[in-house]
Amino acid sequence: MEKSIKDIYREFVAHMVHDLKSPTIAIGGYAHRLRSGRIGELNEEQKHALDVIIENSKRLEHDLHMILEYFQTDKDLKRLQPPERIEVRMLLEEQVESYRIEAQEKEISLELDVPAEPIVMEGYPHHLSKAVLNLIDNALKYTPRKGSVTVSASSSGDLVSIDVQDTGRGFRQQDLDMMFQKFEDVMDIHDREIRGFGLGLSNVKRYVDMHHGEIRVQSREGEGSTFTLILPVHMKDRE
Ligand SMILES: Nc1ncnc2c1ncn2[C@@H]1O[C@H](COP(=O)(O)OP(=O)(O)O)[C@@H](O)[C@H]1O
Ligand SMILES: [Mg+2]
Repeated sequence: MEKSIKDIYREFVAHMVHDLKSPTIAIGGYAHRLRSGRIGELNEEQKHALDVIIENSKRLEHDLHMILEYFQTDKDLKRLQPPERIEVRMLLEEQVESYRIEAQEKEISLELDVPAEPIVMEGYPHHLSKAVLNLIDNALKYTPRKGSVTVSASSSGDLVSIDVQDTGRGFRQQDLDMMFQKFEDVMDIHDREIRGFGLGLSNVKRYVDMHHGEIRVQSREGEGSTFTLILPVHMKDRE
């Protein structure tokens, strides 16, 4: 089968991103070692410079990771495995716990609120986990110190809903469309202040589409945001 221009372009970008990852990790790693003071003592100005390097290498690593995740999802979508049984509390617990330390460092209270009776659904645990992970990541990233982030779940009839709510900076209604743009479209966006280079939400949208679900978003500037995933319990009903 002949490759389309789009396939070639995607392969090129995927290779490039892959190659950019190692040096990025090395820069971050060495900056960390320097910052720890183990290699030599540092004055305040040097510490500040290293903090800036560390922060930026983290951002770069995050963006590269998101681009790779986007391409990986392209592949996954082409050969989806049969859906599996998902115990929602367990899945959420795992994701919440993976952010426990980061939340503590930012003094953000990170809570999980799920009913006592188990919520079970069909789906793709790996992709659903990533969807939730991306939402928690954003909630923590865009919520200032001492705020709170709550992950909750409920089920009603044949739908499960998962909420990630924060008391963060929120956003304007008109910025919403831009936030879910696809990779190819992101390349054209000049307003990086709003969009970042992040592909987190466009990945989330794709994971939710895989489940034949939908995303609802509520936000008020300066007050916080809630991202809700609405997912069918039985995927077969929706195919
Ligand atoms: N919980 C949130 N609170 C405020 N703004 C958010 C939130 N989640 C996402 N956003 C906005 O949407 C943009 C896109 O998010 P995302 O695709 O995850 O990329 P990234 O987080 O890497 O910038 C963010 O840059 C941010 O402006
Ligand atoms: Mg993000």
